Amino acid sequence: MSPPPGRPKAGDTPPGGVARSAGESDMSPPPGRPKAGDTPPGGLAGGAAVTIGAAWDAVSRDLRSAGLDFGHGCASAEDEAAWIVLHAAGIPASAAADFDALRGHALTTGQAQQAAELARQRIATRKPLAYLLHEAWLAGLRFHVDERVIVPRSFIAELLDGGDLDVWLAAAPEHVLDMCTGSGCLAVLAALVWPHARVDAVDLSPDALAVAAINREAYDLQQRLQLIRSDLWESVPTAMRYDLVLCNPPYVPEASMRSLPPEYLHEPGMALAGGPDGMDLVRRFLRGLPAHLSPGAVAVLEVGNERAAFETAFPRLPAVWLETELHAEAVCVLLEQDLREAFGDEGSAG
Ligand SMILES: C[S@@+](CC[C@H](N)C(=O)[O-])C[C@H]1O[C@@H](n2cnc3c(N)ncnc32)[C@H](O)[C@@H]1O
Repeated sequence: MSPPPGRPKAGDTPPGGVARSAGESDMSPPPGRPKAGDTPPGGLAGGAAVTIGAAWDAVSRDLRSAGLDFGHGCASAEDEAAWIVLHAAGIPASAAADFDALRGHALTTGQAQQAAELARQRIATRKPLAYLLHEAWLAGLRFHVDERVIVPRSFIAELLDGGDLDVWLAAAPEHVLDMCTGSGCLAVLAALVWPHARVDAVDLSPDALAVAAINREAYDLQQRLQLIRSDLWESVPTAMRYDLVLCNPPYVPEASMRSLPPEYLHEPGMALAGGPDGMDLVRRFLRGLPAHLSPGAVAVLEVGNERAAFETAFPRLPAVWLETELHAEAVCVLLEQDLREAFGDEGSAG
């Protein structure tokens, strides 16, 4: 799998997680900076022929000075500028890892103008770049996105891609559930990681499921990936038992929802809002979870920066926090036996 456009920095965790790739340890954002004087007089908008390095310098400067928020797949103006310039050049964002080699590559006038226009739109609209380009990169895979779904950036992707969940699983899972699937990114990743697994992907939003269907088709997974419209467990067949359940639910607390940077306001509110303490959806998810687990099953739950709220809400539930490259405690593993003891089969306890 190839890398996403850039590497966010630790501590930059945005609501909903951070887009990154498990193989990112050998991936970096565009290294170094173009030398002063690389940028032609008049900048990109002037339409003069420029190199990728010069275009990157100009776009980086524009994005930096615009005071944008970078939390939707990139962590800095430089990372996002690389994505813009490579996109304009018709080069996949995954090539950012080799940015140095591309620096001297000449852009056509049209490509330079497109890069300038994308930067202008990003600044004027404050839309996440993924929405302007209709693409997002997660664990090196390209996903279609538009404003019907949250921009993929789950930490769970790194764990899937890196094989980090294997130690928790007795065997390759046959039945996987991705609860709150959004664009279907985690469901697609799981289906690719375990080629014999059947994957169910649940979301309440018909819009999100329409986008997930696009991504399911892009990866030719129609036979193994089932999309289910459901309010959490409500329409999940009662007889279904899963060996692995993934869940990146909405978990942004009410107070944080009121102070989100403009970029987040372009995302569906229902993908972010988690109620007063962020745990509204998590509570309902966990109550219904034991009844859908096979013996020895594992659940992987993402709560971003809300570990303390999780532990306050579920003080007696053992959770093992998994470290990802950018966050030490955004994702936890929950074991079937512990969930059954805490919540019972009928989901009575909370
Ligand atoms: C944080 S997003 C995660 C999307 C995707 N899994 C990802 O990692 O990019 C949460 C998703 O939960 C969905 N959602 C919100 N409330 C729901 C509910 N009651 N039942 C099922 N899905 C719900 C939203 O539509 C949204 O797609």
